[in-house]
Amino acid sequence: MKKRILVTGGAGFLGSHLCERLLDEGNEVLCLDNFFTGRKENIIHLTSNPYFEVIRHNITLPLFVEVDEIYNLACPASPIFYQRDPVQTTKTSILGAVNMLGLAKRLNIKVLQASTSEIYGDPLSHPQSESYWGNVNPLGIRACYDEGKRCAETLFFDYHRQNNVKIKVIRIFNTYGPRMSPHDGRVVSNFIMQALQDKDISIYGNGNQTRSFCYVSDMIEAMIMTMQTGDDFTGPVNIGNTNEHTIMTLAEKIIALTGSKSEISYHPLPADDPIQRQPDITLAKKVLGWEPKVQWDEGLRNTIEYFRSLI
Ligand SMILES: NC(=O)c1ccc[n+]([C@@H]2O[C@H](COP(=O)([O-])OP(=O)(O)OC[C@H]3O[C@@H](n4cnc5c(N)ncnc54)[C@H](O)[C@@H]3O)[C@@H](O)[C@H]2O)c1
Repeated sequence: MKKRILVTGGAGFLGSHLCERLLDEGNEVLCLDNFFTGRKENIIHLTSNPYFEVIRHNITLPLFVEVDEIYNLACPASPIFYQRDPVQTTKTSILGAVNMLGLAKRLNIKVLQASTSEIYGDPLSHPQSESYWGNVNPLGIRACYDEGKRCAETLFFDYHRQNNVKIKVIRIFNTYGPRMSPHDGRVVSNFIMQALQDKDISIYGNGNQTRSFCYVSDMIEAMIMTMQTGDDFTGPVNIGNTNEHTIMTLAEKIIALTGSKSEISYHPLPADDPIQRQPDITLAKKVLGWEPKVQWDEGLRNTIEYFRSLI
């Protein structure tokens, strides 16, 4: 059945893929964005669809629209952008959550929160399962994002307990793919941009820190499957790829796939940068029947082609 769906942060990397997928499935989509990190180029190809609407709005302010479901993705996601205006980042997470939960409560509809693996901070437990409470420095430069997202989760669960709001919380681990911003300083986009221009690949620390990378189409699939679960399933549920790689391996892989002449350069590790990250996705497999399908080589090739088209 056709639904009218609100996607906040719809002009961003993940949001634009989600809008596209929901439209492809025959839904009507309201894309809300203040274009802080989102770009019109990400959604321009959707604007000829009469079932796609764009609302320029800051989610920290209340919004009244009639919709059937809400996906709440609005929030800058890369350290460079979320540390640019940390107070606004915390406000976006917390006031944005309050506004979207209030709307879901009034309309008696489901609301999905795009939470993050960052709520685990620099984890002392590995791999991270949903029962792990995390190890976050509340005073550090990443706290505006980490603690903002943690408080948003608290709000989601309190609205659920207190007001019976139908919530879904997913904890997104590192995701990559076309439409990532080329200047967001995230490791995949950074390395590809540097490799394509034969510039030095900057590794922060010794390159032995690990990350697990999920391709965007797998992530969008999981978001939609989570929204479709029954009202009794709230999450939180980890969504990500379990294949863990060192940052050094990623650099070498990207150099090989691009045929680049880049060398590696080493820089100091930023404060509170996690050493190890890998999701435990047992719950997602059990409840959603989901696991990532796209292999590293295929995902990286698609992403490299996208960045090549930008240069
Ligand atoms: N990409 C990842 O690896 C990843 C990992 C964990 C969590 N997430 C979460 O997924 C969501 C989307 O991330 P992304 O990678 O697409 O980031 P993104 O920066 O590309 O997208 C975020 C979007 O939100 C918009 N936005 C920011 N502040 C806003 C505000 N106050 N009002 C309205 N719009 C606002 C931005 O303009 C942008 O379009 C974020 O909530 C992020 O925390 C992403």
